[in-house]
Amino acid sequence: MEVGFLGLGIMGKAMAANLLRHGFRVTVWNRTLAKCQELVALGAAVGETPAAVVAKCRYTIAMLSDPSAALSVVFDKDGVLEQIGDGKGYVDMSTVDATTSCQISQAIKQKGGAFVEAPVSGSKKPAEDGQLVILAAGDKVLYDDMVPAFDVLGKKSFFLGEIGNGAKMKLVVNMIMGSMMNALSEGLSLADTSGLSPQTLLDVLDLGAVTNPMFKLKGPSMLQGNYSPAFPLKHQQKDMRLALSLGDENAISMPVAAASNEAFKKARSLGLGDLDFSAVYEVLKGAGGSGQA
Ligand SMILES: NC(=O)c1ccc[n+]([C@@H]2O[C@H](COP(=O)([O-])OP(=O)(O)OC[C@H]3O[C@@H](n4cnc5c(N)ncnc54)[C@H](OP(=O)(O)O)[C@@H]3O)[C@@H](O)[C@H]2O)c1
Repeated sequence: MEVGFLGLGIMGKAMAANLLRHGFRVTVWNRTLAKCQELVALGAAVGETPAAVVAKCRYTIAMLSDPSAALSVVFDKDGVLEQIGDGKGYVDMSTVDATTSCQISQAIKQKGGAFVEAPVSGSKKPAEDGQLVILAAGDKVLYDDMVPAFDVLGKKSFFLGEIGNGAKMKLVVNMIMGSMMNALSEGLSLADTSGLSPQTLLDVLDLGAVTNPMFKLKGPSMLQGNYSPAFPLKHQQKDMRLALSLGDENAISMPVAAASNEAFKKARSLGLGDLDFSAVYEVLKGAGGSGQA
């Protein structure tokens, strides 16, 4: 199977490499073209523009930072729309809001192409290991065509029906995750400041009902002040913002998510946006803790 791949950030690079490892022929494009070289070394071809990739490949996957990047790659000059048409499919796996996804879907369909949104749950390591959870919606025929690729990229894929449902599911999941990260950060800070060992707190949490893979993975590196980015904080804040907007549209009160969003915003204002989202701990330590983990 031949696929195009647009966007070689933390996730896109790992996902495209995974497809290559499993025998897919992959043509890559990235805004910063130099980043394609690592994939070329693994056997990928390079397209000079998104349009060139779509012209060459029947199926094209995108993994881009946010709504504005997702729209730009489709609608701008040399974008996807210039070459999409009958018999071609476009699969956007970026985390965006339902409105953005619908806009892209309509434009692609107008040109005769097929569209699936397929944001993912899981981070850098699951992307490398093909263990993502894929939250797809849109054109069912294209979804079925993509199953071999989804099987390589993920451990499970869900087909959620009409366009927008994948985007919304992803935002709900990340809203919960962002709030949990804030709760963990506050707990570590409270333990530390009140004279307890934060490491012992992690050990206690790990044995009880609130144990989870995220606390297990992130807790120890947070205590070391290691925020090497797997999921950049600026993207987590984008997801909180988009989830809160979904809450606004539906008149759902979300005070926990709103407070968490403020902490992520504060972290961004302190220049922590490119670090891992667990760096929000630095903000919550600063809010009252000793600053020492
Ligand atoms: N990292 C995770 O753990 C994770 C997990 C699940 C979902 N996601 C979601 O997956 C998406 C990608 O995340 P990531 O961690 O891979 O992000 P990333 O490392 O920041 O990569 C972002 C990608 O988007 C490209 N891009 C940004 N603005 C662009 C524009 N205006 N036009 C064209 N390309 C543009 C970047 O190109 P350049 O290289 O030129 O900057 C890069 O390829 C995001 O929507 C994120 O929320 C991430």
